[in-house]
Amino acid sequence: MSAPTADGLSEPLAAALAAATEDRLVYDLAGIEARHDALRRELPVVQVRFAMKACPLDEVLTALARRGAGADAASPGEVEQALRAGIPVGRVHYGNTVKSDRNIAEAYRLGVRTFATDSVQDVAALAEHAPGARVFCRVATGGAGAVWGLSNKFGCPPGDAVRVLEAARDAGLVPAGLSVHVGSQQMTGEAWHAAAEDLGDVLRVLGRRGLRVDHVNLGGGLPALGYRDRRGTPLDPPLDKIFAVIREGMDELRRIHGGPLDFVVEPGRHLVADHGAVRAHVTRLTERRTAGGERQHWLYLSCGKFNGLYEMDALQYRLVFPGHRPDGPYVPAVVAGPTCDSDDAYSHEEGLVPVPATLASGDPVWVLSCGAYATSYTTLGFNGFAPLPLAWADRPEGTGADD
Ligand SMILES: Cc1ncc(COP(=O)(O)O)c(C=O)c1O
Repeated sequence: MSAPTADGLSEPLAAALAAATEDRLVYDLAGIEARHDALRRELPVVQVRFAMKACPLDEVLTALARRGAGADAASPGEVEQALRAGIPVGRVHYGNTVKSDRNIAEAYRLGVRTFATDSVQDVAALAEHAPGARVFCRVATGGAGAVWGLSNKFGCPPGDAVRVLEAARDAGLVPAGLSVHVGSQQMTGEAWHAAAEDLGDVLRVLGRRGLRVDHVNLGGGLPALGYRDRRGTPLDPPLDKIFAVIREGMDELRRIHGGPLDFVVEPGRHLVADHGAVRAHVTRLTERRTAGGERQHWLYLSCGKFNGLYEMDALQYRLVFPGHRPDGPYVPAVVAGPTCDSDDAYSHEEGLVPVPATLASGDPVWVLSCGAYATSYTTLGFNGFAPLPLAWADRPEGTGADD
């Protein structure tokens, strides 16, 4: 990967953003590949199953497949796309604990043989519609330390995981593993440490009951590096520490298990967030009074929550204003998208963003580190604002995926 520029952007991404004369969502495939390879160096024995939801683009899936990654798919539609993009079916698992009979049968027909679960009802459905399949049970986590905790909808308490895997065995399925998700954009090593402790407790009980799983799935949660929180403070995740804690946890789990144990990770945003950026433009910079009589600036951009920046209420993406001097006059503004919807904005109670006072309608703006969940959370054209066209940093303008 090329050296990052002063903005933390790779050179190809910066060049593609600078060359774009219209709005675009630009991805740097080489950057995504490099992030994948760096992850493999940190966790060499761990199998990578890319969480497709974070960036379901064929080009990304194909590039990752060539480097040995598989897919964490959440629906038959995602399974089909993974296979179409060249991921061998043996490297695709169904990572969603929520599925209908029809979803299960369809994934099984497509060749998927490994499924996540967290309830005996789901196990019964798997036994009927995916006979003999391998199942791994998701253990709930607290989600503390993550920007998005993901703690309620999925996973059973550690004690129940034993019951679920015993039910799987009794129903003729293979009780193959355990999984966790420590919450998305997890900022602490402690969360992985706590997850490893819970998984260790379950492994001990499974061992006593004569159930031997073959793998542990450490889920997603690995952080993007270029985010700022709602107040504009860089998130700066302790990535080295996180990897060290994960390695220690794996050693401990192997010791408890007392035999061969494979590991899987399901990174989503860690692989793609920092390698996607939007070339947007200024809709307008305005100034008006609040109900309390204070003057407030608003910077409306051409993209927002409904076309690329879905997570803008929880984060501030870094903005670059090409052509505006860093030492020119700046004003603190609420940044918002172009639609007629009040959720389409950065959190204005918490963080104003310094923006050039001279911004004019049409000026280009670059939105950085917004490659994760950008395409998948885009609406079909809410308020008539179409999804952003795609482009690739290493291909000349005009050969983007949309052309
Ligand atoms: C089962 C599962 N695995 C992995 C991920 C990816 O998470 P992240 O983007 O935090 O890596 C998700 C995201 O929701 C998920 O539901």
